[in-house]
Amino acid sequence: MIPDKVPQEDVFHGSEDLKKTAHVCSFDKYKELYLKSVESPDEFWEDITKDFYWKTKHTGPFLDYNFDVTKGKIYIKCMEGASTNICYNLLDHNVHEKKLGEKVAFYWEGNEPGDELIVTYRELLQKVCQFANVLKSQGVKKGDRVSIYMPMVVELVVAMLACVRIGAVHSIVFAGFSAESLCERIMDSQCSLLITADGFYRGDKLINLKLLSDEALQKCRDKGFPVNKCIMLKHLSKGDDTSPGSQSPPAKRTCPGLQVNNKQQHQRFDDVPWNPEVDLCWLTLVGGASDKCEPEWCQSEDPLFILYTSGSTGKPKGVLHTVSGYMVYAAATFKLVFDYQPDDVYWCTADIGWITGHSYITYGPLANGATSVLFEGLPTYPDVGRMWAVVDKYRVTKFYTAPTAIRMLMKYGSEPVYKYKRDSLKILGTVGEPINPEAWQWYYTVVGERRCPIVDTFWQTETGGHVLTPLPAATPMKPGSATFPFFGVVPAILNESGEELEGPSEGYLVFKQPWPGVMRTVYGNHQRFETIYFQKFPGYYVTGDGCRRDEDGYYWITGRIDDMLNVSGHLLSTAEVESALVEHVSVAEAAVVGRPHPVKGESLYCFVTLTDGVTYNRALEAELKKQVREKIGAIATPDFIQNAPGLPKTRSGKIMRRVLRKIACDEHELGDISTLADSSVVEQLFQNRHCAAV
Ligand code: WTA
Repeated sequence: MIPDKVPQEDVFHGSEDLKKTAHVCSFDKYKELYLKSVESPDEFWEDITKDFYWKTKHTGPFLDYNFDVTKGKIYIKCMEGASTNICYNLLDHNVHEKKLGEKVAFYWEGNEPGDELIVTYRELLQKVCQFANVLKSQGVKKGDRVSIYMPMVVELVVAMLACVRIGAVHSIVFAGFSAESLCERIMDSQCSLLITADGFYRGDKLINLKLLSDEALQKCRDKGFPVNKCIMLKHLSKGDDTSPGSQSPPAKRTCPGLQVNNKQQHQRFDDVPWNPEVDLCWLTLVGGASDKCEPEWCQSEDPLFILYTSGSTGKPKGVLHTVSGYMVYAAATFKLVFDYQPDDVYWCTADIGWITGHSYITYGPLANGATSVLFEGLPTYPDVGRMWAVVDKYRVTKFYTAPTAIRMLMKYGSEPVYKYKRDSLKILGTVGEPINPEAWQWYYTVVGERRCPIVDTFWQTETGGHVLTPLPAATPMKPGSATFPFFGVVPAILNESGEELEGPSEGYLVFKQPWPGVMRTVYGNHQRFETIYFQKFPGYYVTGDGCRRDEDGYYWITGRIDDMLNVSGHLLSTAEVESALVEHVSVAEAAVVGRPHPVKGESLYCFVTLTDGVTYNRALEAELKKQVREKIGAIATPDFIQNAPGLPKTRSGKIMRRVLRKIACDEHELGDISTLADSSVVEQLFQNRHCAAV
């Protein structure tokens, strides 16, 4: 499965320096460990689990599972019988056993240059314990679900780890999602409490998060699911009244004991809506809370968190991860893929609202006692050199970002990069979508000065951590390929009939057996879990991605092969956007396809058929865009909307998206359209393209 030999020519290698200290220092070493990980998983993972604290040890095999729907219910259990607490491992264990109390856990860098904060492991532990006590005092218990809707501030990490400490299950909703999306997620996971902030700036745009939270909670109430507690962190706003139960929101955040440097005064932000019946002030609550809190010892398969990801039916899926397997996997992938060393300053630019932020800002780095940058801002604010200014400022050694960000920064040329020192950088990473070789080369040459290997990490919300990835000192890299499987992961490529293809081939990417970090279920709907991931090809986990294996055995992800789009590294289902569009009174039918985009990877191209008597115009187009933004969030805003009096359908009424994709790109080579019911529709759509202002 892993080739004996990999090419040495026309590939890129990690430096000799890196190999000297790397955890996995050669391809032979990788192969040896890989074989061990699949042939003797117990032995392989046992070595890794020694780094953690276990209240009780596991009793059965390391992994126990059924991956085959024809043999009964799908289940994956890792380290049954063991009990632990992840928060204890991330914080107490590092502070007390590993003596890392004074080590910096996070350099927080705010949206405005100059807004910064340093948090050590000891301080983080205190903050988390205090907030864990707050949650307990609000009646949150083990197993309860808590929604978190916050900007990229240290308190977001505090909130998630406080949940983990008491065994509550966090469900973080990306702060760019709409009130409607938040409401849907709160209700699906039956959350009893919401944690949010007053607002934040994305560049110079103010996002009034509390207003959106209130709207979401009102929608929940209207739908018969009242959530009566909302804890709000004052991140931006001013005002002096901190008394509990007061009519006005409490004072501006201060962080006693932390080094705060607020050089830039935030704009005034006084108009936070406040409902004393429901709203609680973070600062007031922690003021009275003890900074000692005994962790709740959890079983290996107790739920850890839920994270929603787009589903092809339009309804997001609550991906559920559990305690031990996720912890071990996030920690091991972080350590080996970024070749973590104790003096690293690591920076992942993702938002914690996505899985990348969960696994590679919070869980993986903290489990290793790493120092990270936590960045609230944007790559282009106040200017396009911001990323490199931050790399220079903190002497970042390992840097992990998305191809869409690289492509966007590439547009501005090399000058903004060269303005800053990047000699601290050792390893670069990418995630979220295939990286085109041109962007890879720019990243490698301009950003990394041809010195830093690039780890192109392929994984999913569902996989918990990296599943196909180079190891920086071991794997010769080919630009655009995620290369080979991580330890314990066994990929295969299947054809449409479910046969495994050998050698160079292209087809469906699947995995043949579980690894510790794989999701366990769709929250509240195990059947949906089985149907989506295991039904199509019994015996395999189906990723939904297409993949090619080349003559050297390298894996190349070719993109989604289901009804999912990848816009700037974020998955969206076409059905979700279509249903937001048809909710508008003027829309009778909608079909959404992806159109290649030079920066975002894909953009949303929407075809809408209007209800009788309605005429298409710019005002309606703006309304439809607004509608999608309000239903889903800004990330789903359509790039193009085209009036489509008719849609290309088969005789059985199925929309031919393949044809729509061609129309969106103005490509007239349509292939076989013999199944089309009425081909004049296609001609009409080509003629109408100018209405979409392409
Ligand atoms: C895509 C993000 C190519 C893929 C961690 C996958 C990638 C989806 C890569 C998951 C990569 C992620 N190369 N494609 N290195 N990484 N993808 O759940 O289509 O937000 O199925 O997880 O992103 O997106 P998700």
